[in-house]
Amino acid sequence: MKVTVFGIGYVGLVQAAILASVGHDVMCVDIDENKIENLKKGIIPIYEPGLTPLVEEAYKNGLLKFTIDAKQGVEHGTVQFVAVGTPPDEDGSADLKYVLAVAETIATHMSAPRIIIDKSTVPVGTADKVAAKVASVLAERNVEIEFDVVSNPEFLKEGAAVSDCMKPDRIVVGTENEDSREVMRELYAPFNRNHDRMIFMDVRSAELTKYAANCMLATKISFMNEISNLAELLGADIEAVRHGIGSDSRIGYQFIYPGCGYGGSCFPKDVQALVRTANGIDYKPALLEAVESVNYRQKQKLFTNLNNHFKGDLVGKTVAVWGLSFKPQTDDMREASSIELMKSLWKAGAKVQAYDPEAMEECQRIFAEQDGLSLVGTKESALKGADALVICTEWSQFRAPDFDLIASSLSNKVIVDGRNLYDPSLMKKRGFSYYGIGRGDSVIKQG
Ligand SMILES: NC(=O)c1ccc[n+]([C@@H]2O[C@H](COP(=O)([O-])OP(=O)(O)OC[C@H]3O[C@@H](n4cnc5c(N)ncnc54)[C@H](O)[C@@H]3O)[C@@H](O)[C@H]2O)c1
Repeated sequence: MKVTVFGIGYVGLVQAAILASVGHDVMCVDIDENKIENLKKGIIPIYEPGLTPLVEEAYKNGLLKFTIDAKQGVEHGTVQFVAVGTPPDEDGSADLKYVLAVAETIATHMSAPRIIIDKSTVPVGTADKVAAKVASVLAERNVEIEFDVVSNPEFLKEGAAVSDCMKPDRIVVGTENEDSREVMRELYAPFNRNHDRMIFMDVRSAELTKYAANCMLATKISFMNEISNLAELLGADIEAVRHGIGSDSRIGYQFIYPGCGYGGSCFPKDVQALVRTANGIDYKPALLEAVESVNYRQKQKLFTNLNNHFKGDLVGKTVAVWGLSFKPQTDDMREASSIELMKSLWKAGAKVQAYDPEAMEECQRIFAEQDGLSLVGTKESALKGADALVICTEWSQFRAPDFDLIASSLSNKVIVDGRNLYDPSLMKKRGFSYYGIGRGDSVIKQG
């Protein structure tokens, strides 16, 4: 099938590569010329396990093409994916300007029927807006060409995006059009062999399904963070509690890790956007608002713990930071807890020595002009001469470090662990002041 993908980011590039890997003929369109030129040279703009060989192979076979020429893209695919960003607007609602710009582009250049697939995460009602935009441009052009707008939200997880797309849990498709339904079946047939993963529904339900999924996951995280704060104040250990509740099959062990708040390009903006959608229809989304405010508070926690340890005086201190990405296996730092922490540290007069296995370039890009930041090549060198260590991301290489080296490198034996990687009692035995999240042994009252 001839497929065009608009927006070659985390979602678009992975989707394009996996569709090409099974034999579809895929053209990728982006407005970022630099990105497209690099992709043609084999330079992959993001870190995503397994993605590079997939892109290289499909590009070599001629099934994956890259262009900034939108007209060429519109002419190519009978299906046109829209996978551009939907960042928060000033008021937190999803900004649809990129999605609508692509709709306009498609309508401007189309000369044969097209199925437009909304892959971006978009509020309920967006498919109608896309359809209205396309219809109005076609009317201006004074042409009548058939088109349909389908909602096909993406559920991939960064860090496991390739395997998620190869073996999706489900493929949600919102359309009431029989023909589009058949095309979507054919498009995804290679990923649907083991059992039927396709879930068809109406467009608005598909749009809401994506927000519901992300808000549910964000709720689980904020719930655990709320309980972890209670555990701290009550002298209980959240890790024991986590095991205790996870063993209930109705609750389960997945996604109930306490931590230093959720980040990334999806949860924060999607919770916010659904809150704004609710506000727009005069509904008060009390639970979603709480999820957001618990997360906001949790993101201050690493700094609060460190600041309390140093009795509010961080001026001139150097803090080693392990992990900058919002989660392991990605270089994505959007809304990462590390950003919140580092900004607070700089404001308090401290310096940061940071290391991350994949996100150093991204950090350099974001904080190119920032004083008080040195990015170093190993986790060990981040410790040299530092007063304390803070762990923001649970990369596997941080799980069993050389504690003697940590102790001898730090001028104060202080570890603030945002991911509960270590055992508080062992840390105590080794002579560390250790602050986890919700650990009875390392209780610190919030300031
Ligand atoms: N990143 C994730 O884990 C994830 C998961 C599921 C869903 N989503 C959703 O998918 C969408 C895309 O997210 P992402 O993380 O891939 O974004 P991204 O920022 O990584 O990529 C978006 C790309 O779109 C390009 N673009 C913007 N306007 C364009 C235009 N008019 N024509 C062509 N290209 C254009 C940008 O240059 C950029 O390369 C968002 O709605 C997001 O919420 C993301």
